[in-house]
Amino acid sequence: MRQGPRGEAGNEAQRSAAQQNRSLVSRLVTTFLERYGTRPRIFFAPGRVNLIGAHLDYNGGSVLPVAIELGTYVAAAAGPGSLLRLASLDYPQSHELEPGHLPDAKELGWAAYPVGVWREMGEPLACDLMIAGDLPRKAGLSSSASLCVATALSLAAISGRSFTAEEIADLAWRAETKFVGVRCGIMDPFASALSKAGHALLLDCSVARSYRHLPISAAWELIVIDSKKPRELVASAFNQRVSECRAALAILREREPSITSLAQASLDDLHEARAQLDGTLGRRARHVVNEVKRIADAAALLELGDLEGFGRLVCASHESTRTDFEVSCDELDFLVEEVCKVEGVYGARLTGAGFGGCVVAVAKKGAFSSSEQESLRRSYAARFGVEPSVLRLELGSAAREIC
Ligand code: GLA
Repeated sequence: MRQGPRGEAGNEAQRSAAQQNRSLVSRLVTTFLERYGTRPRIFFAPGRVNLIGAHLDYNGGSVLPVAIELGTYVAAAAGPGSLLRLASLDYPQSHELEPGHLPDAKELGWAAYPVGVWREMGEPLACDLMIAGDLPRKAGLSSSASLCVATALSLAAISGRSFTAEEIADLAWRAETKFVGVRCGIMDPFASALSKAGHALLLDCSVARSYRHLPISAAWELIVIDSKKPRELVASAFNQRVSECRAALAILREREPSITSLAQASLDDLHEARAQLDGTLGRRARHVVNEVKRIADAAALLELGDLEGFGRLVCASHESTRTDFEVSCDELDFLVEEVCKVEGVYGARLTGAGFGGCVVAVAKKGAFSSSEQESLRRSYAARFGVEPSVLRLELGSAAREIC
């Protein structure tokens, strides 16, 4: 992964990133031509980091992700018969699948995501797809949603049917929840399909579902640090949090049926139900209710360009995911604590589901110098035996056809 230099070195990093992507795209085109004999169209969908609003999407709250310019590329062309032919530059297995004869998602591994999207298209579509990506895997930067969104965009284009960006996101989300079986919320595919360069996406995940793009001040810098702790077993731990939130909601609804999502509950509601809602479920619900308030305040501070205030809420969000929601780990806590000691860094938190993966920090542009990065790398390696990587974050824009 690219490191986080600035100034001249930063420009070089950007140039080499663009070259890397160009070289990835040209490798994708050449390999596709060799394998399938036709020239493909190329689609890209970005990954994301979520600035605040942890585990709120599937609880009907709001989230504040930004797209990053790392993601998934899909080469696509119409294929023979009714087959889906699927290959990847990153994995050796390839597949040829007929509609109506799909293996179980577990047997498909990485291919379960594109196959899930193909299945959700509703009508059989003969298509050849080849996939490549430059997002680090298992780092919580939403590689699976970016794969689903890039696939959905490709299949929509090949089918000739017209889809809105929201329909593409929804298709990607249905593939991941219905076929792959992760009970994730809508944040990741929507961030990938709907983001705008230089902006965060304030996405209301209630039934009403709406969104706004909020500009991020050019004086701010977002730093992403990959702990290199893989998010193993994340799906089961994640699904467990979803179940706990549902159980907490069911308890609240026994007293107050007008509450239809956990994000609608207040601290008073939790207090009134304290006899049934104690221990783990009470802490999960408390995180959600407090995070709903935090994200509303954070969005207002982002609009004011108040970096310090925003950073304080980001730190409070991390603390709540650590203590009440319990999705952090020693590695992420260490990174948050250390990066926040740097002058000009105003807040940091785990991003994504947690349990490993990345930390995002909000800072004054240029605050996290190369020597500070080096010293963080050294102290982290001394404690955990592996070097974290610091990613200079290029804010991305929505999924698109690139050539
Ligand atoms: C994962 C899920 C998202 C969201 C986050 C936590 O990334 O895919 O839907 O729930 O975790 O905020």
